[in-house]
Amino acid sequence: MDNPAAVDPAVLDAQAAHWARTFAAHADMFGREASEPARAALERCRSQGVGELLELGAGQGRDTLFFAAGGLQVTALDYAESALAEIGTAAEAAGLGDRVHPVAGDARRPLPFPDESFDAAYAHMLFCMALTTPELERLAGEVRRVLRPGGLLVYTVRTHDDPHYGAGIDRGDDMWEMGGFIVHYFDRALAERLAAGFELLELAEFEEGPLPRRLFRVTQRKPAGAGSGRPGGT
Ligand SMILES: C[S@@+](CC[C@H](N)C(=O)[O-])C[C@H]1O[C@@H](n2cnc3c(N)ncnc32)[C@H](O)[C@@H]1O
Repeated sequence: MDNPAAVDPAVLDAQAAHWARTFAAHADMFGREASEPARAALERCRSQGVGELLELGAGQGRDTLFFAAGGLQVTALDYAESALAEIGTAAEAAGLGDRVHPVAGDARRPLPFPDESFDAAYAHMLFCMALTTPELERLAGEVRRVLRPGGLLVYTVRTHDDPHYGAGIDRGDDMWEMGGFIVHYFDRALAERLAAGFELLELAEFEEGPLPRRLFRVTQRKPAGAGSGRPGGT
């Protein structure tokens, strides 16, 4: 692109309020059924003996409750606190309250968990939100820190093949705003960049919804012999 737009941090920050308003107006915005990537991730978690899962950008919890019903302890992080409250209520109603742990937090900040807290991390359409490339790199590093050695990260992102890529308002750094939502569209190179310090196991394309959105499902593993990756850490 000849004149790429500059990133405006205030515009990106405003997405938190936009998501809060959206969830307040739309119960079950993404439906109640677990997503396809969650189904695939649960299978992989089971085959690898995962007990504790960190879900980033859990939204209203369509996948959170599915993982908990599948036997995992799920820590669900999002910056939309009302959606997290909905998850807590739904988990209690389903008798899964002891397996679901909602945590309010911004994925652009250091994750509020000690090193090596989780067996796996999962994020359906969080990495393709309004996070700049440096923020994504820091987030991948943070996920690596909080994963135990051998831990899995499964995340999905909208791609350059998505019908909305390049449409709407250019927010810079491959982010485009449509209908008030800012999406960071990925190419393979960005996914490969975020695999630094991990083993990239799979980069699969899939579609979701009526548009349809076109996405990558990325599966990567923290090497079994790796420590937290923190300076001075193990
Ligand atoms: C596209 S929705 C996906 C929700 C859920 N994973 C699903 O598939 O149903 C993205 C979610 O990420 C959350 N989110 C976006 N940016 C975030 C950030 N910087 N920190 C924490 N959560 C964020 C939004 O509040 C929203 O719940």
